[in-house]
Amino acid sequence: MGNKRVAKNSTDILCTALLVVILALIFSSSCNPSKQEEKNKFTNYFRQGEQLYVNHCSNCHQINGTGLGRVYPPLSQSDYMQENFESVLCLMRHGIEGELMVNGKQYNQPMPGIPTLTDLEIAEIATYIYNTWGNSRGIIDVKDAERILQGCNKQ
Ligand code: HEC
Repeated sequence: MGNKRVAKNSTDILCTALLVVILALIFSSSCNPSKQEEKNKFTNYFRQGEQLYVNHCSNCHQINGTGLGRVYPPLSQSDYMQENFESVLCLMRHGIEGELMVNGKQYNQPMPGIPTLTDLEIAEIATYIYNTWGNSRGIIDVKDAERILQGCNKQ
C-alpha cells in the first residue's frame, strides 16, 4: 500500500517537472522570436528608409548627410533634428521654408515637401536618419509617425 503511494507520488512529481520544462520551453521559444521580430522590424525599416533617403533626399542633403554649402543644411550631427523631431516628420511631407538655424549656421531656401510619401515611408526615412551618422534613437514606429503627421501644421 505505502509503496504504491510513493510510486504514485513520484510519477506525479515527474509529470509536474515535465510540465514545467515544457511550459518553460514554450515560453522561451515564444519570447525569443518576439525579440528577434523587433530586431527584424528595425532592420526592415532602416533598410527601406535608407533606400527612400537615397531616392528622395540625398540629391540635396547628400548621401552622407553633410548637406551642401550654405544651400542645403546637414542632417548628420544636426542640432535642428535633435530639437525638432516632430517638425522633421512633418517637413518631409509638407516641406518647409523661411530662416532656419542648423548648428549655428543660417539657411533660407525652401524645401519642397513630398506629399506622396506614406506614413510608413516617413517612419522608415525617420528611422534611417535618426539611426545613422552617429544617431541611435531607435525605431520610429509607423503608429507614432501617423499620430505626429496628423498633428502637422499644413502650410
Ligand atoms: C530639393 C532639395 C531638398 C530635398 C529633395 C530635401 N530637402 Fe530637406 N531641406 C532642404 C532645404 C533647402 C532645407 C532648409 C529649409 C529652410 O531653409 O527653411 C531643408 C531642411 C531639412 C531639414 C531641417 C534642417 C536640418 O538640416 O536638420 C531636415 C531634417 C530635412 N530637410 C530632411 C529632409 C529629408 C528627410 C528629405 C527626404 C525625404 C529631404 N529633406 C529632402 C532641401 C531639400
